[in-house]
Amino acid sequence: MIYLADTADIQALKDLYDFFPLTGVTTNPTILKQSGLKLSEAIQNIIDIVGRGSVHVQVMSNKAEEMVKEAKTYKSYFNLGDNFYAKIPISIEGYKAMRILKDAGVNVTATAIFTQQQALVASRAGADFVAPYVSRLDNISSHGIEVVGDIVKNTKEFKLDTKVLAASFKTVDQIHRVSMAGAQSATINPELLFQLIKHPMTDISIAQFEKDGEGLYNIF
Ligand code: E4P
Repeated sequence: MIYLADTADIQALKDLYDFFPLTGVTTNPTILKQSGLKLSEAIQNIIDIVGRGSVHVQVMSNKAEEMVKEAKTYKSYFNLGDNFYAKIPISIEGYKAMRILKDAGVNVTATAIFTQQQALVASRAGADFVAPYVSRLDNISSHGIEVVGDIVKNTKEFKLDTKVLAASFKTVDQIHRVSMAGAQSATINPELLFQLIKHPMTDISIAQFEKDGEGLYNIF
């Protein structure tokens, strides 16, 4: 599973990119609103940090033609080439837009996915990534991990090129379980990305090594 950051928090992104092997960044209108910046500024700040990583920008329009226009405008404005992904929410208009964008050579991430069939239809419409929302499913007493597992199974069984981009996490355990379910990628908020690599036993072990190693390593 590869990791993307689900954020427009520039300081957090800088801190993460220093050490975390991220392959890209996803945003949505809520995340952009929290940044307090205009979309153009927020995305440009992200691009300055991610370099050649992928950047997934969600469209705001809800008519296919406008979604397509918006996605193409972003793609050419930010000049990201194949690293640009238009995030298109699931809807009848969204599916229309996915097909048109795919034919026009624009990468597509289908988002706001809550069922395996929504994902499969998006794959058939040409989506490169499908993003099921794990926490939001769990929060309504549904089973986010099962939906992710079913989508992964479909991609294998039907030999689809689409990859699962598991999204919407509140716990490290959810991330662990989508990884075990075979999700090819996950987009995760900064707080959880830092939490992922933490373990108290690691801290205790390192503290012990430091104590025992005092005075032994005099090579410098
Ligand atoms: C990513 O594509 C989604 O927009 C995001 O993960 C949603 O996360 P949330 O449910 O924590 O808002």
